[in-house]
Parts: sequence; C-alpha cells; structure tokens
Amino acid sequence: MKALILAGGTGSRLRPITFSMAKQLVPVANKPVIEYGIESIAAAGIEDFGIIVGDTAAAVQAAVGDGSRWDIRISYIPQPAPLGLAHAVQTAHPFLGEDDFIMYLGDNLIKSSVSGLVAEFEAHRPAATILLTPVPNPESFGVAEMADGRVTRLEEKPAHPRSNLALVGVYLFDRRIHDSIAKLSPSARGEYEITDAIQGLIDAGLTVRSHIVEGWWKDTGTVEAMLEANRLILEDVEPLIEGDVDAESRIEGRVKIGAGARIERSLIRGPAIIGPGCEVVDSFVGPFTAIDARTHVRSSEIEYSIVLSDCEIDRAPARIAGSLIGRDVRVGRSLGVPRALRLVLGDSSSVNLGD
Ligand code: DAU
Repeated sequence: MKALILAGGTGSRLRPITFSMAKQLVPVANKPVIEYGIESIAAAGIEDFGIIVGDTAAAVQAAVGDGSRWDIRISYIPQPAPLGLAHAVQTAHPFLGEDDFIMYLGDNLIKSSVSGLVAEFEAHRPAATILLTPVPNPESFGVAEMADGRVTRLEEKPAHPRSNLALVGVYLFDRRIHDSIAKLSPSARGEYEITDAIQGLIDAGLTVRSHIVEGWWKDTGTVEAMLEANRLILEDVEPLIEGDVDAESRIEGRVKIGAGARIERSLIRGPAIIGPGCEVVDSFVGPFTAIDARTHVRSSEIEYSIVLSDCEIDRAPARIAGSLIGRDVRVGRSLGVPRALRLVLGDSSSVNLGD
C-alpha cells in the first residue's frame, strides 16, 4: 500500500498566516500539522509516500524533506491547480499505479492510529474505507447518510445535511477509485470532489466500508480548530526541560522547554511547550500555549495560544489568549506620546483590543 498526502490547495480560512505559509506547515505543539499524519502512516508500516503540492511546494519540500528521518521515501507531485481532492488523486495516478493507497489530507489531525484501518482494508478488500465522526456543523464537511450500518449517500458540504456524520480526511482506496474519478464533473464549488467519486463507487454497487473515528479528529483549517488541535496535542505533552530555568521561575504541570531557551522570573503553567532558543522573562505562560523557536516574551501574559518562531511579545497590556501569531511578529506597547495604538497588520488580519 502507498500513501498519498495532500498538501496543495489554499488556506483561505487561516489568513493571514497562510499568505506566507502553507496551512499544512502551521505548527501544532511546535510541529507542522502535516508531520502528524506522516508519522501515523509510517507507523503503520507504509514506506512509499507521495505528497501533492501546489504553490507552496518549495516550503513543504524544505520542511518535510525526503522522508529519511521516518525511514520512508517521499515523492513530491505538483498539482498544476487546486481543482479538488479527486483531481489531486488523478494527478498522482502515475505515482500510485494500480496500488492500494491511503489518502490523508495534510491539514487533518487524528489521534487514533491508522494501523488497524490498513489491516482491515487488506483483510476485507472493499473499494474504499472512509472515516466518519459526528460534528455540530456538518454543512462545513462531506456528510454521510447511513442505513442499516452502511453508507448509502455522500454529499459535499450540503446546505441541508441529512446527518451529523462528517467525512474525516483519511480514506483508503484500491485502484477502482480511478475509474470513478474519470467519470466526474466539477461540483457547484468548481472542484472535482472525492466525495462524489466515492458516491460513484456506491452507485456502482461496490463496497464502501465506514468507521466512526475513535479519539478526536480536527480539520485544522480555521484558527479555532488550530487552537483546539494544539490543546489536544498538548494534553499529552511529555515534560522535558532542556533549557535554563532560573531559581525565581516556577514550572507547574507538564511543560516542555527546548534547548537553549531561558526562563527568568516567570511562571509557566502547563500543558505548554516553549521551543529552543526562546526567552521568557517576567512573564506568565499559561495552559495550552505553544511558543515556537527563538520567540521572546517579556513582561507579558499569554495562554491558550500558538506563537510561531522569531516573535517578540513585550509588555502586552493585557493577557493574550486564544491567539494565533505568525512568524517574526512584534506585539508590544509604545511608551511615547501620544498614547495610541500603532498597528502594522497584513491583509486579512484580525485584532481584538479587549474592552
Ligand atoms: O477535513 C475534512 C474535509 O476535507 C471533508 O469532510 C470533505 O469532504 C473534503 O472535501 C475536505 O474538505 P475541505 O473543503 O476542508 O478541503 P480543503 O480544500 O481544505 O483541502 C483538504 C486538503 O487537501 C488540504 O490540505 C489542501 C489539500 N488540497 C486541496 C485541494 C482542493 C490539495 O492538495 N489539492 C486540492 O486541489
């Protein structure tokens, strides 16, 4: 079995972060989202990976590499335009050949291992296996209708969902999916939908197995989902202090502090992760916060947030919470007169100035 990871497309709901960064590379607990999927599939014994890439190909390739650190081989497959998940599979057909494959959307995170799914697929040999999970907002996903334990109908982002079971971004297919994709026409949103291709398998009388996801699952496509994924990963963080913590600081709960980081006169309340080379001085870092490499936090309080690398947060006038802060960002207070808010914000930024 091969693996196909999708890391093309655009990240419109994560702007402005995704103006300068692939959404699959935004870090959750200081690790790019895409790496969680790769690790889970590699742990199932799959060694031959294809990664679909688009405009951000160079950055994805630079971050993920050739796969040697996981003992796998990675081929990068450029998709000329993000014309849909089924189009991505079609683009990867020369790489996939006639082999079975597991497809994983590069911005999805699931907690459960995929090993059982792979073994089950190989034992039962359905045309496809899909994963489902109940969600409060099914209209934002592909939605499955079930009868007698079988999937009878799939619809992509229906205005009036017939169930609350969303399609999770992990699929297993055999070569018959390619025939179904060849018959597709574009959907209302102008994409070749994998959801419609799976419906084609059902219509042809082929077996499509489904599983309800055990453990949590997140599509990290929005800021809220990203913060929630960060929270869920940090729930299991292994405490490890590699940096320096001075005698006037306190570390409470499960906290990971990277090499070369310095914590001075601060309280770090886990679960939290502070990357290598960071400086946290006279500050509070609260639960469910991930601060990436070389970021400096001074005289500030921050919790339930993701801060990317090389930022500076200095004397923030109120506690920062529920925030996603991109790379190389300065947040602080100016001491000059007149007292005013001075903002330099990229397109599609959002700032909440509190009360
Ligand atoms: O997250 C689960 C949902 O993913 C499913 O419930 C939906 O049925 C499925 O269509 C998909 O919906 P999204 O609209 O959220 O997909 P998105 O456009 O975010 O793309 C998912 C991943 O695939 C993302 O990492 C980008 C990549 N991609 C996307 C497109 C459209 C490609 O590599 N090529 C593409 O052409």
